[in-house]
Amino acid sequence: MATHFVAEEKDLADGQHIIVDVEGRSIGLYRLDGEFYALHNYCPHEGAPLCKGPVCGTTLPSSVYEYRFGREGEIIRCPWHGWEFEIKTGKSLVNEKVRTRRYKVEVENGKVGIVI
Ligand code: FES
Repeated sequence: MATHFVAEEKDLADGQHIIVDVEGRSIGLYRLDGEFYALHNYCPHEGAPLCKGPVCGTTLPSSVYEYRFGREGEIIRCPWHGWEFEIKTGKSLVNEKVRTRRYKVEVENGKVGIVI
């Protein structure tokens, strides 16, 4: 395993993300609540480029005929069929056994690296 530095910490503000290629893999690098998260840019449903989907929130549990929206900025919505995934874990909101791969991220001297 090696750390591949792909960005400067100062260039990725909270709530932003970039898509990078590392060792032939397309990976979305997200900054959320001050932390960095790296997710495989691949939807486990039918293989869409997941990280090209919008960062958004989702509907929350609620009573019948009531719609509550929350978790703004914590979710990626797949651009093909709308499956939603947590940025922090890569897990699908519908079934936590379905997930996209998550990579370890290291920050060293202001540089952000993905461990592969
Ligand atoms: S390919 Fe992502 S929801 Fe279908």
